[in-house]
Amino acid sequence: MTSARNAEFVRGLGADEVVDYTARPFEEVVHDIDVVLDTVGGDTFRRALATLRKGGIMVTIVAFPEGEEAKAHGVRVKRAFTVANAGSLQAITALVEAGRVTPHVEKTFSLVDVKTALALSAAGRVRGKIVLTI
Ligand SMILES: NC(=O)c1ccc[n+]([C@@H]2O[C@H](COP(=O)([O-])OP(=O)(O)OC[C@H]3O[C@@H](n4cnc5c(N)ncnc54)[C@H](OP(=O)(O)O)[C@@H]3O)[C@@H](O)[C@H]2O)c1
Repeated sequence: MTSARNAEFVRGLGADEVVDYTARPFEEVVHDIDVVLDTVGGDTFRRALATLRKGGIMVTIVAFPEGEEAKAHGVRVKRAFTVANAGSLQAITALVEAGRVTPHVEKTFSLVDVKTALALSAAGRVRGKIVLTI
């Protein structure tokens, strides 16, 4: 799921089907999903519960509204946290070197421009990652 401006980018990453969440509510067109990865939270998290099949799982990397809603939909919710350590960085490096993960860098900034980098990140439209060079 993405906005139309990123549709081709997402297809390039391997998506077979792209849903433009700005065109219509995604829960009207997406059903019976096994796994949803939530990177948005809030209302999007709540609406995405309805897209899962019974017994499906929502994995979220952001804060989500706690409550009984997931149980009512017959789905599970798990929160995932990134652990930045040498072991996980080596594992990611191996995936990149094997060509199984292709990082996309939106923009590179020098450290003196960190405020501009943070503002770009806070705008919520970044495609991939922002890199700071030190
Ligand atoms: N738990 C952890 O360990 C962990 C690790 C890393 C990040 N996070 C958190 O995860 C969240 C996402 O991080 P991020 O790096 O992906 O950066 P982000 O800047 O929040 O995400 C930007 C992307 O999200 C898309 N987007 C924005 N609103 C959307 C919506 N309503 N529905 C669908 N897509 C939407 C945008 O695409 P369009 O422009 O096409 O809308 C853009 O490409 C952040 O809150 C971050 O703090 C958590």
